[in-house]
Amino acid sequence: MIKRIAVLTTGGDAPGMNAAIRGVVRYGIYKKLEVMGVFRGWWGLINEDLKLFDHRSVSGIVNLGGTILKTMRCTEFRTKEGQERAYQTIKKHAIDAILVIGGNGSFSAADAFSKNYNIPCVGIAASIDNDINGIDMTIGWDTAINTALNAIDNIRDTATSMERIFVVEVMGRESGSIALAVALAGGCEDVIIPERKLDFASMCHDIVNGNVKGKISWIIVVAEGAGSAQDFAKKITTLTNLETRALVLGHIQRGGRPTALSRDIALNLSRAAIDCLLEAKGNKAVGIIAGKVASVDFEKTLFKKETNIEAAYNLIKVMS
Ligand code: F6P
Repeated sequence: MIKRIAVLTTGGDAPGMNAAIRGVVRYGIYKKLEVMGVFRGWWGLINEDLKLFDHRSVSGIVNLGGTILKTMRCTEFRTKEGQERAYQTIKKHAIDAILVIGGNGSFSAADAFSKNYNIPCVGIAASIDNDINGIDMTIGWDTAINTALNAIDNIRDTATSMERIFVVEVMGRESGSIALAVALAGGCEDVIIPERKLDFASMCHDIVNGNVKGKISWIIVVAEGAGSAQDFAKKITTLTNLETRALVLGHIQRGGRPTALSRDIALNLSRAAIDCLLEAKGNKAVGIIAGKVASVDFEKTLFKKETNIEAAYNLIKVMS
């Protein structure tokens, strides 16, 4: 019987995490649960940094980026000692289950902890990288791509005015998910992602060819996992003899007001996560799968995400 749950955010923050915290607290209370907020992810469980939340603890946060619970990457939780201390906190505070708002690293830690200590854990998929296997859309991804898209729209103005090539680096760790989405929506000429082998000579050949025919500016999006914008820009200048600028968008992609979609997903997933726990379905992550709120086993989320890169890449090239 689950009476008291704990909620925490771990890994990189994602816009919409606050909406998910709000959803967990309010839907949890509606379902007659007690909800404890744990600060700084697993670190807070290890160091007993948590408190009981009420309805008002989550007032006025649905529109805020970041996470009021704070977040960090906690290597100590990977150790036996760290997990043992976290378990002592759970016992002391009579916590029956844990909701983890985060990405695949968070789920692998939750999976191990849950199996070692027989404590039900459910994950709520939140990551700007959108790289969780089995889940099509995470909390935060839509906001991050809109932030990156705003920047690219701005760059387009100066790129066309000054007839330059721009290489814009976006986040995503080992995933090209953000890069592909913004390259298509931003009408960019090319995209370089870790999942696809780059034919650099052919790309430069296209740039020079286009230039001869009067195509005067290019925006190439590079996913951080595929290399650095600076390096690509230098190499493009060397091969094409055309003026090229590099730009790294960096952490601005992680912040800002969550879009309506990121908030909607967060609020729906928080309800689904609590329902999962109440139906005794632990060791699962909830996310958007095939356009619907659904769940997937933690074990599946630990593999590399399978995606149809070629179709997305081809569309970008056809439209450019
Ligand atoms: O996982 C989210 C993310 O923003 C990645 O896109 C990026 O590679 C990483 O986190 C950056 O981590 P940090 O903020 O620790 O530098």
